[in-house]
Amino acid sequence: MDKKRVLSGIRATGRLHLGNYLGAVKGMLELQKNPEYETFYMVADLHSITTPFDPEQLRRNIKEVVLDYLSAGLDPEKSTIFVQSHVREHTELAYLFSTVETVARMQHLPTFKEKVKQHPENVTMALLNYPILMAADILVYKAEAVPVGIDQEPHLEISREIARKMNEKYGLDFPEPQRFATKGESVPSLSGEGKMSKSVEGSYINLTDTQDEIKKKIRAVPTSSNVGGEMSPGVKTLFKLLELFAPEDVSKYSTDYKNGTLKFVVLKDYLSEAIFKELQPIQKKRQEIQADPEYVEKVLKMGQAKATNVASKVLSQTKKEMGLL
Ligand code: TYM
Repeated sequence: MDKKRVLSGIRATGRLHLGNYLGAVKGMLELQKNPEYETFYMVADLHSITTPFDPEQLRRNIKEVVLDYLSAGLDPEKSTIFVQSHVREHTELAYLFSTVETVARMQHLPTFKEKVKQHPENVTMALLNYPILMAADILVYKAEAVPVGIDQEPHLEISREIARKMNEKYGLDFPEPQRFATKGESVPSLSGEGKMSKSVEGSYINLTDTQDEIKKKIRAVPTSSNVGGEMSPGVKTLFKLLELFAPEDVSKYSTDYKNGTLKFVVLKDYLSEAIFKELQPIQKKRQEIQADPEYVEKVLKMGQAKATNVASKVLSQTKKEMGLL
């Protein structure tokens, strides 16, 4: 039986944070070890240029994401690891897909509106096209499962819509990709307001943060003085993170909270320890990989070849059915 395909990606906007790790990378790792799936994991560099960027910084960020991937456990022997722009079929398929989606549908997406608010001076065609390129990323491998956080659901809905339209119009056989959810599909911001995000300073912990940095950041999470009552957003964040990093300890700390005996500093320092314990081996591996700069190049070259092999066939099939070949 043919293996089901998986595709996911992360933009190259900096080092990965706990939201990326828990919402996307953990799902990527789970599917990588499942022999029923063939996994494709990329750095979404072309999506990174839909908002303002610096070319030199982008070049560095692409490497940072690959390093984070490899140190978190993505394995080039098991997964195809590559950079989106190295496989030109993505952009060509995206252009073909753009013929079946309307401008109005794209303008109404909540993810588009949010970016317009963040960068009102940069509402480009590339930004409007974001979900179409994402659909091409997934469907150029005919991937069925997509490990991403809950914020990406509107984009997956567009991918399914495009698959249906292309199948109906041209008799193609694109699958309707589904999100592969993890327990950390929506990691809150350290401020308690909104989600953990690279674009909000003070909201995140990076995979490369030191023990001291983690401790400082967790200590800064706002807590209320009335222990025992309705939890404030900051306190909810602490408990959510505890559930993700030390689930076995949640009931003990919530009992203390309900009884009014919980000392936040104790909970915070315990949580920092639990987070660091999970990140420490990742950081160690990162140092080992960094020591051999050629390794990353080798991985990406191999990934490009493997990905192109699949993507070129799907693109040709699409072009044939559309009368272009
Ligand atoms: P990006 O870089 O914005 O986000 C990368 C991944 O991290 C997840 N994520 C979170 N999950 C839980 N809680 C959070 N606070 C949190 N913050 C971020 C996101 O859901 C995402 O999974 N558009 C994609 C990149 C992409 C892609 C693709 C993904 C381009 N093409 C094709 C899958 C398939 C994105 O948002 O990246």
